[in-house]
Amino acid sequence: MTADEEPLGWDTTTVAEAYRDRDMRLAERLIFPAVLRRLAGRAGPGRLALDVGCGTGAVAARLASAGEWEVQGADPSADMLGIARADRPHPRVSYRLFDGRTLDWLADDSVDAAVCCLVYCTDPDDERLAALTAEIRRVLRPGAPYLLADLNPAATGVAFSTLRHGEPGAVYGDGDTVPTLLRLRDGTMMTSTTYYRSLDRYRRFLAEAGFPSPAVELPTLPAAGPGASAVPAEIRTAPYMVLATHA
Ligand SMILES: C[S@@+](CC[C@H](N)C(=O)[O-])C[C@H]1O[C@@H](n2cnc3c(N)ncnc32)[C@H](O)[C@@H]1O
Repeated sequence: MTADEEPLGWDTTTVAEAYRDRDMRLAERLIFPAVLRRLAGRAGPGRLALDVGCGTGAVAARLASAGEWEVQGADPSADMLGIARADRPHPRVSYRLFDGRTLDWLADDSVDAAVCCLVYCTDPDDERLAALTAEIRRVLRPGAPYLLADLNPAATGVAFSTLRHGEPGAVYGDGDTVPTLLRLRDGTMMTSTTYYRSLDRYRRFLAEAGFPSPAVELPTLPAAGPGASAVPAEIRTAPYMVLATHA
């Protein structure tokens, strides 16, 4: 897949296979540490963490390795889950296909932490995401954290070293389709589609589901040392945001 091909939706075999090969360096430095740091000290035998929209299992596997979580990864894409099971098996991680809106196999107040990374931006359906957010609220024990990480809506059009979401200079409104380029490990670019939502829209998903107002973290990379030739955009601008709230 190259940058000049048609953008693709997220639930296809082609996208799952390309996503398997994505360049994860920025996510590894900016999203995963922020998520793990906020969950530090909460893991323990039998404690359940839910990775909603687990995709190829990158976050689920890290949660299981970082602490003694039992992890359930759930995703509506059978192709993504196939890759997660093949590439990131772990004795304390299970992967499950679901409809993207209903967590009906989980009882009320039964989950000790939930994470949802780069999922809302891939789903065009506000009503489904509202239902999903309410379900996450329902299954979390009182006080349990919910970490929602996503593309930073204030960073559209910025050329980061591994991604660009949105055209430079374009202005997007809630629900707009955003052409998105992701760098793959071999240096080629994958063209895909994400869906713009403002920070206020994210806040509203959370508030309507009964979550308290989130802390908003906008992680950037530390400044390059003197003599560095190029200054990557992710030093000045956060490609991602992490919204931290709790049930
Ligand atoms: C960009 S991938 C992110 C995967 C993984 N969370 C990560 O950070 O590597 C987006 C994933 O969200 C899933 N997805 C899309 N809509 C969803 C929904 N309503 N509920 C749960 N997952 C969804 C897609 O199938 C896909 O696997």
